[in-house]
Amino acid sequence: MNCAAILLLTASCLVWSSPLHTPNKAAPKELKYLLDPPVYAEVAGRRGENATLPCILRTKPNHYKVKWTKLEPERVGTENIVMISNERSFKQYGHLGPRASLRRAHGMDASLQLSQLQLDDGGRFRCELVNGIEDESVVVTLSIDGVVFPYQSLTGRYKFTFHEAKEACAEQDGILASYSQLYRAWTEGLDWCNAGWLSDGTVHYPILYPRATCGGELLPGIRSYGPKDKNHDRFDAFCFTSLTSGSVFYISGAFTFSQAGHACGRAVAELAVVGQLYSAWHFQRYDQCDGGWLKDGSVRFPISAPRERCGGIPEPGVRSFGFPNKSHGLYGAYCYR
Ligand SMILES: *[C@@H]1O[C@H](CO)[C@@H](O)[C@H](O)[C@H]1NC(C)=O
Ligand SMILES: *[C@@H]1O[C@H](CO)[C@@H](O)[C@H](O)[C@H]1NC(C)=O
Repeated sequence: MNCAAILLLTASCLVWSSPLHTPNKAAPKELKYLLDPPVYAEVAGRRGENATLPCILRTKPNHYKVKWTKLEPERVGTENIVMISNERSFKQYGHLGPRASLRRAHGMDASLQLSQLQLDDGGRFRCELVNGIEDESVVVTLSIDGVVFPYQSLTGRYKFTFHEAKEACAEQDGILASYSQLYRAWTEGLDWCNAGWLSDGTVHYPILYPRATCGGELLPGIRSYGPKDKNHDRFDAFCFTSLTSGSVFYISGAFTFSQAGHACGRAVAELAVVGQLYSAWHFQRYDQCDGGWLKDGSVRFPISAPRERCGGIPEPGVRSFGFPNKSHGLYGAYCYR
């Protein structure tokens, strides 16, 4: 089957084109020094937690170093080294370095520990044994557990350049989602009929229930517009967020936007941003059948146990009333503390 031609358009092809399924395809040569696969080929963690990326020696050469690198194919010509160590010492490099250490649970353990995971730590990491003769490496994928949410400007649909989309996600406590995060969100139920930027500068949207108005009656899948002009083309954004350190709560009332902000302030909190509400919905199964103001001026509510009286949509999700007139006192407040 020629997947390249219909790449990203159908579920069956997506499986083959997903970056998660293509590492290490070239020549499966047996390694002498490193355990391969390295216990787990993929490790997951949430923002704020620690993660251990396994790398175990089978045999020790006389002299060697272990080098951990984050593979960032989009940054051509730069090698993002995290740390280099020999048996006695290690040295940290780059922005990940300060949060990196070697586990050294035993004499053959070269596993990398990353503390205080951040949203953009996800990706592929290479553990390389360097002895000057037969260097060997294994690759481990770190995936951050989280939730993808579509985000639209207060001024309407398709208003963000790539750079504005990136800022919009940051303001909502997120980052632009990667393709594999959107793909995973689609398998978990995300169906969204508006195209949005992803972190690699491409534009996509996920469809579970094909319909004529959303790219036609193709099979369910991720619809692709391919790469777009980051400075001139305008779309919505797909943002990604994970666990938060604080929590979200609801104050009931018939508030205007500014009254809602004051209500949160009296509770020693602030209006929540969209990513925080999604995080609570995703990780704590937060369920509240009342529209409430958020910091960006939108009104939303999280539903984990769908029921007829709460929006009537059969799937769980965060529902949106869009951006109502801020002077209408009709909604409660979602606060974050
Ligand atoms: C995470 O790593 C940090 C630094 O290495 C350590 O101080 C902390 O105890 C670890 N936390 C957990 C939950 O393992
Ligand atoms: C919002 O509502 C107020 C009072 O009903 C009205 O005066 C104002 O023009 C509205 N603003 C917008 C942007 O529609």
